[in-house]
Amino acid sequence: MNPTALIPAAQPIPVTWALFDGLLILGFWAHILLMNAVFGGGAIALVHSAGPGEPLSKQMSKKLPTMLALTINFGVAPLLFLQVNYGHFDYPGTILMGGWWLLTIPALLVAYYSFYIWDFKYATLNGLRRVFLGLGLLSMLYVAFMFVNNMTLMLVPEHWAGYLENGGRSILNLSDATLFPRFLHFMTGALAIGGATVAVVGRWKGREDFERIGLKWLMNGTLINMAFGLWFLIALPRQVLLAFMGGNAMATGALVVSVILAGLIVHATAVKNVRNGAIWAALTVLAMAVTRHMLRKLMLEPYFSVQDLEVTGQYSPMVMFFVTLALGLLVIAWMIRLFLNSRKEA
Ligand code: HEM
Repeated sequence: MNPTALIPAAQPIPVTWALFDGLLILGFWAHILLMNAVFGGGAIALVHSAGPGEPLSKQMSKKLPTMLALTINFGVAPLLFLQVNYGHFDYPGTILMGGWWLLTIPALLVAYYSFYIWDFKYATLNGLRRVFLGLGLLSMLYVAFMFVNNMTLMLVPEHWAGYLENGGRSILNLSDATLFPRFLHFMTGALAIGGATVAVVGRWKGREDFERIGLKWLMNGTLINMAFGLWFLIALPRQVLLAFMGGNAMATGALVVSVILAGLIVHATAVKNVRNGAIWAALTVLAMAVTRHMLRKLMLEPYFSVQDLEVTGQYSPMVMFFVTLALGLLVIAWMIRLFLNSRKEA
């Protein structure tokens, strides 16, 4: 079967594609940083749930439920921008995944409840603390695996016919050589960024032991991720790999910058500099988000180029969007100020 016959027609867009691509990358950056802080911070809390004084787990239990809510909220923004430019690849992917995809919603609910019970009943749960935290993390692992399936399936329309071969039952993208290295790369990255989160919490709370633990996870996660990143790279189709090896200046540049930034993380953690470690970590994730976006464009090149989308030139919704965004940000800044002032007074 000719896979191009399965791709729905692209819809016109109101303004240039570059705006939506830019907002997609920024939204994804915020989403994935938060997801990493929750998953990685939770996993580290699980490992260090007992210890002298107030355990790390207790400190993290106060932060993770809110951060999970923010992770999900910040998932909505990239979802909207993704559907504008790439909806005709992403939606077929989710439809073909069917039941697997729909199960992400109950999995998210389980994650939410588990983290809230872990936090609110921390004092009385005793041994069950680890059970609820572990359940929350397992649910997040499921959701992450489904996203990696979806994000890879949208790039390979030639795999979509697998749905028909499977007798019309939901499919995953398990035969894709990049699926597991990509998943492992994401989740190990989450452990590293979780380490950065724990180190920053330690700095705020004046807990040198948390800083030490966090920096160790940040360094080891980054080093291990270099190996998974290499595996991911060599699993890519040959022409895409060559594009990252100098064939495409933008793709190669983004990858090189990411690797240099990862090297700076290792240096900052080696000299025990929490602030620099956290800054380099956040910037590495941004550079990796750009690299990942370049990968999407290169993979879709045989089928589609975002530059070819028809632009209708309707500017008023964009103006409205930026005005409401600016107003929203002002209101949030005002709320945070009120909150901080009330805490100072208390
Ligand atoms: C808390 C559970 C969640 C986890 C662990 C998670 C994890 C991930 C991961 C690992 C990816 C990258 C996949 C890849 O590139 O292969 C991803 C992408 C994405 N996630 Fe989430 N996610 C979660 C919840 C959500 C929710 C609830 C939404 C939507 C409301 C969302 C929206 C997105 C979008 C739109 C992308 C792709 C963005 C892009 O194409 O650049 N996520 N997520």
